[in-house]
Amino acid sequence: MKSRPTVAIVGATGAVGAEFAACLEQRKFPLGTLKALASARSAGKTMNFRGETIVIEELTEKSFEGVDIALFSAGGSISKKFAPIAVKAGAVVIDNSSAFRMDPSVPLVIPEVNPGRIKEHKGIIANPNCSTITALVPLWPIHRKNRIQRVTIATYQASSGAGAAAMEELVESTRAHLEGRSYAPKVLPHPYAFNVFSHNDTVDPETGYNGEEIKVIRETRKIFEDDAIRVGITCVRVPVLRAHCEAITFECEKPITEDEVRAILSDAPGVKIVDDRAKNYFPMPIDASGQGDILVGRIRKDVSDPTGHSIAMFVSGDQLLKGAALNAVQIAEYLV
Ligand SMILES: NC(=O)c1ccc[n+]([C@@H]2O[C@H](COP(=O)([O-])OP(=O)(O)OC[C@H]3O[C@@H](n4cnc5c(N)ncnc54)[C@H](OP(=O)(O)O)[C@@H]3O)[C@@H](O)[C@H]2O)c1
Repeated sequence: MKSRPTVAIVGATGAVGAEFAACLEQRKFPLGTLKALASARSAGKTMNFRGETIVIEELTEKSFEGVDIALFSAGGSISKKFAPIAVKAGAVVIDNSSAFRMDPSVPLVIPEVNPGRIKEHKGIIANPNCSTITALVPLWPIHRKNRIQRVTIATYQASSGAGAAAMEELVESTRAHLEGRSYAPKVLPHPYAFNVFSHNDTVDPETGYNGEEIKVIRETRKIFEDDAIRVGITCVRVPVLRAHCEAITFECEKPITEDEVRAILSDAPGVKIVDDRAKNYFPMPIDASGQGDILVGRIRKDVSDPTGHSIAMFVSGDQLLKGAALNAVQIAEYLV
């Protein structure tokens, strides 16, 4: 890898794509040239990067000539088609879609958890699902000290997880609701303003689990390299613009106390404890938005488990950053 690689962002105009550019700039990523790629609809538009104007180009099969690192966030079908083309042209692909995550030959990486897998790549490295990353960053240091046998998660997922158009839908439908106008949902399947609904990913008719839930279950096992870990999860969209929350309860192999969890998390990378019982101040999306750390609070004994093996907590993380763009840029930093 060159010391100042040429980096391409595929999906540069999207919710994640915009954060890729911001992370590269803020973290002073040592890139030579930035190439911004999107659909034909966006070709010719411009974006600002490090004070320079970059013209967005249409993604084509020729887009990857001279590209060293390609950051993909334009959906699974685009990744499936263009990631192999980028690899053939000599680029290392870091992919945000679910296209390659469960491919046994593709490392699925959270740098705070399994950075050692990065060097095993054969051209493609996958970024995990945003709900997976948000849960596993704080769970991993606990799992290392006292194996987690079982975890139950309930998500409270923001509009940003469904892309820029879903964020706009939340704003527009809220405005319409307040003004007494009707609003027909265009991006998400149900009215979003002042509503909560089951995650919009497809539901498996056999099991009743939706795609987002299945991703978290499978990805957790792959990243922790622990096929025995039992994961139960319910994924829900809430009318929050940005940053997911998750209520997480986990059961360890040996007894564990809330003080032990607090001590483990107090110096865990990528985690910030926000747990002020006196002020009733705990993780909130409004605080998590715009920062790279996963906020963790409400750390307490799970009183439904009298054996003392279980802890409950509540987390919030900016899924456009740590759940997507930041995680990918951290992976890219390992490559240079
Ligand atoms: N949002 C999240 O929190 C999150 C987290 C983890 C992973 N991801 C994954 O990241 C990907 C993008 O998500 P997003 O939320 O950023 O979506 P988004 O806001 O809808 O952005 C989609 C991007 O893909 C581009 N695109 C669409 N069709 C294209 C085509 N035919 N050729 C080239 N570019 C095309 C769009 O370009 P135009 O503007 O030109 O249409 C846009 O830049 C998805 O795979 C998603 O699952 C998202």
